[in-house]
Amino acid sequence: MIANPSIAVVGATGAVGREMLAVLAQRRFPHRSIRALASPKSAGQRLPFAGRDLVVEPLGDRSLEGIDIALFSAGSTVSKQYAPGAAETGTVVIDNSSAFRMNPRVPLVVPEVNPEALEPLRRHAAGGDRKGGIVANPNCTAIILLVALTPLRRAFGIERIVVSTYQAASGAGARGMEELESQTRAVIAGEPAVPRFFHEPYAFNLFSHNTAIDPATGLNVEEQKVIDETRKIWGDPSVRLAPTCIRVPVLRAHSESINVIFRRPATTRQVREALADARGVRIIDDRAANRFPTPQKASGGDEVLVGRIRPDPSCPGGSASDEEPSNAFNLFVCGDQLRKGAALNAVQIAEELLP
Ligand SMILES: NC(=O)c1ccc[n+]([C@@H]2O[C@H](COP(=O)([O-])OP(=O)(O)OC[C@H]3O[C@@H](n4cnc5c(N)ncnc54)[C@H](OP(=O)(O)O)[C@@H]3O)[C@@H](O)[C@H]2O)c1
Repeated sequence: MIANPSIAVVGATGAVGREMLAVLAQRRFPHRSIRALASPKSAGQRLPFAGRDLVVEPLGDRSLEGIDIALFSAGSTVSKQYAPGAAETGTVVIDNSSAFRMNPRVPLVVPEVNPEALEPLRRHAAGGDRKGGIVANPNCTAIILLVALTPLRRAFGIERIVVSTYQAASGAGARGMEELESQTRAVIAGEPAVPRFFHEPYAFNLFSHNTAIDPATGLNVEEQKVIDETRKIWGDPSVRLAPTCIRVPVLRAHSESINVIFRRPATTRQVREALADARGVRIIDDRAANRFPTPQKASGGDEVLVGRIRPDPSCPGGSASDEEPSNAFNLFVCGDQLRKGAALNAVQIAEELLP
């Protein structure tokens, strides 16, 4: 990988793409050039970047020629059409869509969790000529879950996870946010909330995640991604997961209520200690003041917030006391899915590939 890469952001006008530009500027990501690409309808639009404007260009067959790093967030169809060709001609594609996540030849990476998965690409890039490849950015719900749980897995081992999510509108992109805002204004004005993008009214409501349900398993696509991607990232096909994914009327940042069963028992203090030093995690767990993570506290931030850390008294091996070791714990976690769940994680992957 070269020290001062040329960069392209594909899907730059979207919810994730705009955040990518913001994260690249905030982290002063080294680059010799940067291009903003989107669909033809956005050509000529201006996007702020590091105190100046980038003019959006339409994505076309030759747009990625000479690009060292392309950050893709324009959906699976665009990724499938453009990423393999770009990778073949020397671009490192970091892809936010689900197009390549479960491809066994494509690393699926959360830098705090499995940076070693990037080793083959690093060796490949160090081989001399500009050599490309594809790295997949995991699903946002999975990233937030794994940043919180990996330190606990390292300390105590993990057998089973039951996770219920409270997912924000921005997880569905710019149109999801628009729907929540416009419906909220309508309801406050005494008008009905008419669903256009989601399948249910959104303002002052919540509903099962908007992805399709597999009739054979009852799991929706989001829930299946959490299961499959966790197993791939941890390299552990035996870990058992039961997710329930719910869309809530929050504009930004996902929340997750997690019940986890460890292989080895721990006290609440040991769980806090394992989380306290973990990269990318901040504990907010003030029982006396009833102050815990909220999506508002997580919004715009880089860390996954963890609180409500307590033993689960209901499970075999569980305990009702902080003092007694327990195999089962409950946590409440919030993370900004546009940042750590998407843009920040992608930029961190790119940073791992710099010399
Ligand atoms: N939102 C999240 O929290 C999140 C988290 C993780 C991963 N992701 C993934 O990231 C991707 C983008 O999500 P988003 O939420 O940012 O969606 P979004 O707000 O709807 O943005 C979509 C972007 O893709 C561009 N695009 C659409 N069709 C295109 C085409 N044919 N050629 C070039 N660009 C095209 C759009 O450009 P125009 O503006 O010109 O239409 C826009 O910039 C999706 O794959 C999504 O699954 C999203």
